[in-house]
Amino acid sequence: MRFELMAPCHFGLEACTKRELTELGYEISEVQDGRVSFVGDELAVCRANINLRTAERVLIKAAGFTARTWDELFEATKAICWEEFLPYDADFWVAKATTVKSKLFSPRDFQTIIQKAIAMRLSKAYGHEGERLPMTGAAYPLRVSAYKDSIFIGLDTSGESLHKRGYRRYTVKAPITETLAAALIMLTPWRRDRILVDPFCGSGTFLIEAAMMAADIAPGMERDFTATGWTDLVPRSYWMEAYDEARDRAEAVSGKGLSEVMDLQGFDIDEEALYAARHNAELAGVSELIHFQKRDIRELSHPKRYGFIITNPPYGERIGETEELPDIYRSLGERYRELKDWSMYLITAYEDAQKHLGRAADRNRKIYNGMMKTYFYSYLGKRPEKRERSLQ
Ligand SMILES: C[S@@+](CC[C@H](N)C(=O)[O-])C[C@H]1O[C@@H](n2cnc3c(N)ncnc32)[C@H](O)[C@@H]1O
Repeated sequence: MRFELMAPCHFGLEACTKRELTELGYEISEVQDGRVSFVGDELAVCRANINLRTAERVLIKAAGFTARTWDELFEATKAICWEEFLPYDADFWVAKATTVKSKLFSPRDFQTIIQKAIAMRLSKAYGHEGERLPMTGAAYPLRVSAYKDSIFIGLDTSGESLHKRGYRRYTVKAPITETLAAALIMLTPWRRDRILVDPFCGSGTFLIEAAMMAADIAPGMERDFTATGWTDLVPRSYWMEAYDEARDRAEAVSGKGLSEVMDLQGFDIDEEALYAARHNAELAGVSELIHFQKRDIRELSHPKRYGFIITNPPYGERIGETEELPDIYRSLGERYRELKDWSMYLITAYEDAQKHLGRAADRNRKIYNGMMKTYFYSYLGKRPEKRERSLQ
């Protein structure tokens, strides 16, 4: 079956999700703020869920129409062939409704009206008009968005957000989301044959995501998704095919001796954070590729050239931390200047970061992390003239 699919992602980082989908071989139909639409079949649903590192979830577009009154919403929803998507016993509900600049704005009313319209359509289509549906089968959560009266109804194939890879069992205060970390790494020219250091590694997210990319470990390989419980729309055989494909790719890389050629290091002053990072790396299957160690930013050094720092320094998220920030950023700036030909990328909500780092960034990008305004600063280093340790 040919589906119109949509992957919500971080606002401003759509290009990363678009690139991932293109690399998976899918045709992009539209890119809007915080969402990338593409076309694919049953296997695309499985492959997108298992492989996308930067998307929040994967939705099958079931309906798209304009509605300015509740009556219009009801009638347009009822006119959709829901029986093509939902079996008679489907346990469906509107899990989330968001509205922006639309005449209809109450998410609660969206939920009730859409639920009622679908129930009416399905009971008639399955020859039980006027009867209650059993709702005893697999779960089919729906997500609805209204933007300038244009309504989108999608079937959520993912369930738990895709940032939950399953490896972050241990956490610290203010961890960066896995999807955002992966997208930021993709925005840099870092590749697996280059040194990578996170001097404020916390629970290790940047390094674990980077190691998983290097080892070609699909982020969704160890988890399941709402649509794995569906029998009709996305048969189980497609999931098996997509999981096998991902496993084969990881196995193909695992024999290449990555741990000898990769240099990934994570430092933090907090023992608990390092404990979390080590355990998470273990769960992600990349502990052999990352070296974690207790180290204050004031002691950061590396003997080699052309490395990368990708990090998320403190920004005042802990009580009493704000006074320390000027000194922390000053130290980071000083240590960075000692690293010959290195590049540095950092995401922070701290407004005075550049001032204390001692140099304006070569590039600065505003990124919303949820409701929080953050900056992604790039300090560009040199490229090595000759790749000495290329794996390609
Ligand atoms: C915003 S958190 C990083 C979170 C991390 N990106 C993650 O995903 O878990 C900042 C980290 O900086 C560490 N830190 C604070 N001061 C430091 C210092 N002087 N030297 C090294 N690490 C420090 C904290 O312990 C904390 O784990």
